Amino acid sequence: MIRQMTDTKSLYLAAAEQVCRVGQLAIDTTGRFSLVLSGGTTPRPLYELLASPPFSANLDWKKVEFFWGDERVVAPDDPKSNFRMAREAMLDKLKIPPAHIHRIRTEEPDLDRAARAYEREIEHVLGEVAGVGRRPPHFNLFLLGMGADGHTASIFPGTDALEETERWVIPVDVPSLGVKRITMTPPLINSAHFIIFIVTGASKADVMADVLQGPRDPRRCPAQLIHPLTGEVMWFADREASAKLIQHHRIEA
Ligand code: 6PG
Repeated sequence: MIRQMTDTKSLYLAAAEQVCRVGQLAIDTTGRFSLVLSGGTTPRPLYELLASPPFSANLDWKKVEFFWGDERVVAPDDPKSNFRMAREAMLDKLKIPPAHIHRIRTEEPDLDRAARAYEREIEHVLGEVAGVGRRPPHFNLFLLGMGADGHTASIFPGTDALEETERWVIPVDVPSLGVKRITMTPPLINSAHFIIFIVTGASKADVMADVLQGPRDPRRCPAQLIHPLTGEVMWFADREASAKLIQHHRIEA
């Protein structure tokens, strides 16, 4: 489903309501809410909104386990750190207990070791021991953004993450940016119960139309790899980002 919002203010409000709705359901049914955060610039206003009334009182935030879908290879206090962004915008304000904050330790020298350690932490926290064939555990809600090149999390065009079918978290080289990242992989993302994409701005209009209406070509549009196995995916887009979508797509305000 695509929620096209006339302006970013109503977009972030609607997204915040949906996060709390999914969160409350998870807490009512399991006693806690596992939430994967996206990085980049787009989600920051959402995190700031969730950390302010009424949303800051709408959920028992002490029952939320926070994870990251990907991280840049920088120190946790670096301005480029996705962890730092979320900590400043939301986690500190909500006074989230450190035990519930599961960040990706990209400052580790051995990135593959850091990625495997994160897989074990996910398994441990979600309490789902990987069964035969290592089926990935299920996050309650997975937040994603999308780059103008169609990447999501740090699954970029032309990178190993595109082909990954076994691992849940891997280090990746991103030739287009000349950087390394650690990212959750499509098998883990697609095991989530609920996935929300938040996409804003005219720079994303072409790729959003490509991803949702274009020919299937995940190597060129990695966001096309996101299809939850049993869960639901919802896109929140402003008018600019969804401007090139053909009307027959179910666009609801
Ligand atoms: C990251 C993100 C990435 C992001 C897109 C969109 O670490 O950068 O996780 O996948 O969602 O790059 O970024 P913007 O929101 O800044 O456009």
